[in-house]
Amino acid sequence: MRVLILSGPNLNLLGSRDPAVYGTTTLPELEEACRRWAAGLGIEVETFQSNHEGALIDRIHASVGAVDGIVFNPGALTHYSYALHDAVEAVPIPTVEVHLSDISRREEWRRTSVVRPACIASIAGKGAEGYREALELLAARAAATS
Ligand code: DQA
Repeated sequence: MRVLILSGPNLNLLGSRDPAVYGTTTLPELEEACRRWAAGLGIEVETFQSNHEGALIDRIHASVGAVDGIVFNPGALTHYSYALHDAVEAVPIPTVEVHLSDISRREEWRRTSVVRPACIASIAGKGAEGYREALELLAARAAATS
């Protein structure tokens, strides 16, 4: 089983960006942790980060037939990108939305996710642990449907 860890705008700055909210773990460290957790679940991980909406959409399209699941943190695009919602909805790949912070307890504009309805689950406010849960969820779903 293969899973794509997909990261949106500004997540390349993890580690230095607002550590009180996002912690001090860098994106490469987070991706490495995902690789380790995934290995224990029999999952191979690929990673992609972009600050550009279109590049994220292209990667989602290119993932058809290449991965069996996506763990997706769309960054601020979460809150307004109907194009990302449609991209996730348009492909037959189970996608779990993940946020490091608890977006339901932050500014009003962060409380809505327009991407969520296209996802099989949404995990927020658990830091890196949320990514582990997302991988576990995708593994359990694959086991149940195979
Ligand atoms: C985030 C939450 C978003 O509101 C924010 O714009 C991010 C990160 C999170 O992981 O908590 O870039 O998706």
